[in-house]
Amino acid sequence: MTEAATLSTAFTKRFDLSVPVIQAPMGGVAGPRLIAAAANAGALGNLPIWFFPADTARQVIRQTRALTAKPFAVNLRADLKQEELIALAAEEGVTLFNLFWGNPAPSMPAIRRAGGRLIATISDKDGAKAALDAGAEALIAQGVEAGGHVFGTTPLAELVPAVAELAGSVPVVAAGGIVEAQDMVRAFGWGAAGVVLGSCLIVTDDADAHPGYRKALLEAKAGDTVLSKCFDGFWPDAPHRTLKNSTYRMWSEAGFPKSGARPGEGDIVVRGPGGAEIPRYHAATASGGMSGDYEAMALYAGTGVGRMREARSAAALIQDIVAAAAGNLRGAG
Ligand SMILES: Cc1cc2nc3c(=O)[nH]c(=O)nc-3n(C[C@H](O)[C@H](O)[C@H](O)COP(=O)(O)O)c2cc1C
Repeated sequence: MTEAATLSTAFTKRFDLSVPVIQAPMGGVAGPRLIAAAANAGALGNLPIWFFPADTARQVIRQTRALTAKPFAVNLRADLKQEELIALAAEEGVTLFNLFWGNPAPSMPAIRRAGGRLIATISDKDGAKAALDAGAEALIAQGVEAGGHVFGTTPLAELVPAVAELAGSVPVVAAGGIVEAQDMVRAFGWGAAGVVLGSCLIVTDDADAHPGYRKALLEAKAGDTVLSKCFDGFWPDAPHRTLKNSTYRMWSEAGFPKSGARPGEGDIVVRGPGGAEIPRYHAATASGGMSGDYEAMALYAGTGVGRMREARSAAALIQDIVAAAAGNLRGAG
């Protein structure tokens, strides 16, 4: 057996990890199996629970805990009042809270009461400053390259150096379009102490993605993603990066009409495992167990498509990227 790759940075030291990687919290595809696989590979697993009712959140935390003895974070929205979820996660032994989409300061009393530590996702300097003032122990700098919902408009090459300068000794972890070792090396050159892997983990067996979504990600070419507000059902007015698919093309060919006047609006394109109807333009992710025209759903993807490669296991992918980046960084150093 080959030895597991490790790479020590200010981020790994602060959170007792063996590789400077955060598995992206990804609603609908990052469940207990992916979180545990990442955590067991020495990365920080990050479980999104912000959209769950309390009893489901408790259940998925317990399911994750059954698969790994390593600590993992939970992911919550900063713009929603999620104190109840913070408290229940703490009851279940979670101490790491990753807040995104807004200023985390209002959630800090609940995080402090829970004895928790804040990792804040930010997309610009003002957001970084607010998160640092609130007591963030690490920052995830999400660049405009990222798949999923994207708060900011700044590319990582600009965002990471600016935020790293502000953050001082607080480690900055880069998110967006990172799919191979050279991306990690480049992010470190900008001042990052870690990277987030999102879209590239969706194609592994540990993710809960619909097989068609996984295939679409692997077949997509560079430039096949777009940042838009196309899929606004459930979460209106929130920009997101997806593959340009049939729904996006229908909307763009109609001249991007406003919500309520879009072609095919109200079509039920997919059903969830329990039969729930998912209409066109809904923000739901194409998860396993869904049936119907998954291709018409929001196929969230970062700009790394076209360079992503097939990988069966999240652990193997994380290990390969870190080993190659570590070799490259040693060579450079
Ligand atoms: C399918 C999908 C769902 C996502 N859901 C969330 C989420 O629930 N919470 C969150 O903080 N970020 C979410 N994101 C954004 C990721 O955390 C991360 O910023 C992004 O995946 C990084 O870009 P990449 O996909 O190019 O690696 C999501 C991304 C994707 C692709």
